[in-house]
Amino acid sequence: MSFFIAGTGSALADFNIDNHAFEKILETSDEWITTRTGIKERKFLKSRTLTQLAVRASQNALENAKISKDKIELIICATLQGDYIMPSLACLVQKELGANCPAFDINAACTGFLYSLDLADTYFRAGKADNILVVCADHMSKFLDFSDRSTCVLFGDGAGATVLSKGNSLKYIQITAQGEYKDLYIEGNKNNNPFTQDTAQENYLKMNGQNIFKFAVSTITQDIKNALEKTNLKSQDIKYYLIHQANKRILETAQSFLNESWDKFPTNLQSLGNTSAASIPILLDELNRSGRLQKGDLILLSAFGGGLTAGVAVIEWSY
Ligand code: ACO
Repeated sequence: MSFFIAGTGSALADFNIDNHAFEKILETSDEWITTRTGIKERKFLKSRTLTQLAVRASQNALENAKISKDKIELIICATLQGDYIMPSLACLVQKELGANCPAFDINAACTGFLYSLDLADTYFRAGKADNILVVCADHMSKFLDFSDRSTCVLFGDGAGATVLSKGNSLKYIQITAQGEYKDLYIEGNKNNNPFTQDTAQENYLKMNGQNIFKFAVSTITQDIKNALEKTNLKSQDIKYYLIHQANKRILETAQSFLNESWDKFPTNLQSLGNTSAASIPILLDELNRSGRLQKGDLILLSAFGGGLTAGVAVIEWSY
C-alpha cells in the first residue's frame, strides 16, 4: 500500500518583478528572456519569510485534504535551505501548524518533490504512516547573483504542498542522481572557525546553462520513456505532464518527443519563473483548484535539478 494525493496547496511570494525590471540593472531585454525561456515575470520574497510561505502552502493543502494537522504523522520538507540552517524548515512548519510528528528537510534541488514522494512511498509501504505532509519551498532569490544575466532572470521564490494519504495511486516512481555538480552549484556558507583558513566564496548560484539544458532534455525524455514502458502506458493515456518549470524550450522538447498537444503540458514559469522544488507542487495545486483533474486521470511528473538529480512518477488522481 502506497499513497494517494489527498490535497494540494501553494503560496506565492509577495514581490512581483517583470522582465523589464531587469532591463534597468542588466544588459538584457524582455524579448531575450521571453524568447529563450518563456519567463515574463517572477515573484520574490520581500516582506514574508520562506517559513511563512511554507506554512501557508501546508495549511492550504490540509484544508484541501480536509485532514486535521493532528492526523499528520510525518512532515517532509524539500528545500535548498530554510530561513535557518537549524532548525530545519520542516520543524518550523511543524511548530506553526501545531502538528505533533517527526519533521525533516531533504535537499534534492529542483527534484525535491519527486525525492519526497519516493521517501513517503517507503514510509507508507513500511506501514509507518497513514498521512504525510510534503512541503516544497525555495528562496531562490537569496542565492542569485544579480549581476549575472544568464542566471538571475530565471528563478523565483515559492512554496507548494501536498497531503499524501495511504492508498494505491502511485503507479510508478524512479529517482536518480549523478554527482556531476560542476555545471550547477551554490557553494556552502562561510566557515566561522578562526583557527582554520576560510576558503569559502560568496554563495551565489552558478550554472552552465547550455550543459544543464542538454542534461534536462536528455533526462526527461529518457525518464518519461522509461515510465511509460514500465507502466505499459501510451503517451495518450496521460492526462497531464507536469514537468519542472525551468525553461519553456525544455518543455517543448518533451512535447515534440511525445508528439502530444501543448494543452497536456501545463506551465506557470511565465509568471513564476523557476521556483525549484516548489515548481511541480505549485503547478499541481493550480490544476487541482481549477478543476482540471478528474478521478482516474493519470498525471506524469518529471523533474531534474542540481546534484545532478532527476525523478519521474506516474500518479492516478483519486477524487
Ligand atoms: N539577456 C541577454 N543575453 C543573455 C542573457 C540575458 N538574460 N543571458 C545570457 N545571454 C547571452 C549570453 O551571454 C550569450 O552571449 P554571447 O553569445 O555574447 O556570449 C548569449 O546570450 C547566448 O547564451 P547561451 O547560454 O547560449 O543562451 P541559451 O540559449 O543557452 O539560453 C539559458 C541560456 C536560458 C540559461 C538556457 O541555457 C537554459 O535555460 N538552460 C537550462 C537552465 C535550467 O534548466 N536551469 C535550471 C536547472 S535545475 C534548477 O532548477 C536549479
